[in-house]
Amino acid sequence: MQDLSVVVLAAGKGTRMKSRLPKVLQPLAGRPLLAHVLDAAAALGARTTVVYGHGGDQVRSHFADANLGWVEQAEQKGTGHAVLVALPQVPAEGRTLILYGDVPLIRPQTLQGLVERVADGRSLSLLTLQMADPTGYGRILRDAEGRVQRIVEQKDGSPEELAVREVNTGIFCVPNTLLHAWLPKLRNDNKQGEYYLTDIIGLAATEGVVIHTVQAPQAWEVEGVNDKLQLATLERQHQRNQAEELMRGGVTLLDPARFDLRGTLEHGQDVEIDVNVVIEGRVRLGHGVRIGPNVLLRNAVLGDGVVVKANTVIEDSEVGAGSDLGPFARLRPDSVLGENVHVGNFVELKKARLAKGAKVGHLAYLGDAVIGERVNVSAGVITCNYDGANKHVTTIGDDAFIGTDSQLVAPVTIEKGAYVAAGSTITKTAPADALTICRARDQKSIPGWKRPVKKK
Ligand code: UD1
Ligand code: CA
Repeated sequence: MQDLSVVVLAAGKGTRMKSRLPKVLQPLAGRPLLAHVLDAAAALGARTTVVYGHGGDQVRSHFADANLGWVEQAEQKGTGHAVLVALPQVPAEGRTLILYGDVPLIRPQTLQGLVERVADGRSLSLLTLQMADPTGYGRILRDAEGRVQRIVEQKDGSPEELAVREVNTGIFCVPNTLLHAWLPKLRNDNKQGEYYLTDIIGLAATEGVVIHTVQAPQAWEVEGVNDKLQLATLERQHQRNQAEELMRGGVTLLDPARFDLRGTLEHGQDVEIDVNVVIEGRVRLGHGVRIGPNVLLRNAVLGDGVVVKANTVIEDSEVGAGSDLGPFARLRPDSVLGENVHVGNFVELKKARLAKGAKVGHLAYLGDAVIGERVNVSAGVITCNYDGANKHVTTIGDDAFIGTDSQLVAPVTIEKGAYVAAGSTITKTAPADALTICRARDQKSIPGWKRPVKKK
């Protein structure tokens, strides 16, 4: 919306977090609380100003790339004062939506409904909530006809006023002309000695401005985060919301309560995800992908039909269609697997390319390796890719066979169809279609040899 400005209040100290990290940088689903709020603002196409205070430099530098206005509120004198300091950034015309940096789950649809009611410059809109226990919140006071008169804060209310269960969520939308006229008029003659933004509601009623109220569809949309308990509660809510969206999109989650998405997940049809799977960053799963229990996927692309067995970790990697991994496999960054690759248990890959049909079944480390089609890497094979100073590449041609417990000392090449005997330490090129063997001398046996005994 062209004429919409958003002011995000984020100057609070967040003392109850008991953390060195400013409150609005505390992560929810892996991203700062403030990032979630800014997403909602961006979805409305609004120009956004953030009012910051405590830990301001840290907050600003975290969002350095975003197109935002920043205003410092050095001393916290109340929500009205916070918007007042942002006022120079608010155009003379248009509408302004007030959001909170610590209310992360507000949905754009809800905000849209609020903004739409403020079209004419002579009305404002307020997001309210009916609460069983309204303690601590500002109460919405209405006249006999149900028209909003003003908002009274917990500390200033009479017992009758505090009996009201309809509360101010703090989120509202005001025409800019009125914001410019009213904010400088606010006074701090209340119990907290603060400039209350909520006092503009009383001014609006006095001036005959229409005050629309919109009920928040769900309490969690307007819940704020003050401590780690509330952070965890909203994290679970957010995860539940994401899980429901995925299930509606056709994903099978064996237990939606034991699934965590901290980023984005694109998926095909018939994807099945077992319990305790954590997905971070950008992940794409093709049709029919099956993810076993206790798996971590971070920035990964998995082709159709890939099967990931229990306790596997995949980071910054790509897996071709029909491949299977794990249990207990680890793909470190820049691993790229072709179709129908098999990576078994206790295999670690780092910057390894495995072409179509390659197999590495058990207990192996392949780092900085380029591996051809149908290559078989047996148990215990290690690429010695690091000489203590530099990394070197191991290249293995198509159809090669690397026997058990071999070390490939990079830089080194195993040519097409080469056969490396078990227990070899390979330091030079192993030629195509030949057996290469490099072990200690022939096996010998010493009869009557005495086993060492334990010293007394
Ligand atoms: C405010 C509302 C109250 C409402 C409640 C909803 C006022 C006077 N009261 O209460 O009616 O029910 O929110 O949660 O507006 N902030 C600043 N600078 C300040 C003060 C606050 O940036 O000087 C920010 C805080 O970081 C926070 C938000 O504004 O994100 C709300 O402040 P908070 O103190 O939590 O709300 P209350 O004043 O208690
Ligand atoms: Ca306060």
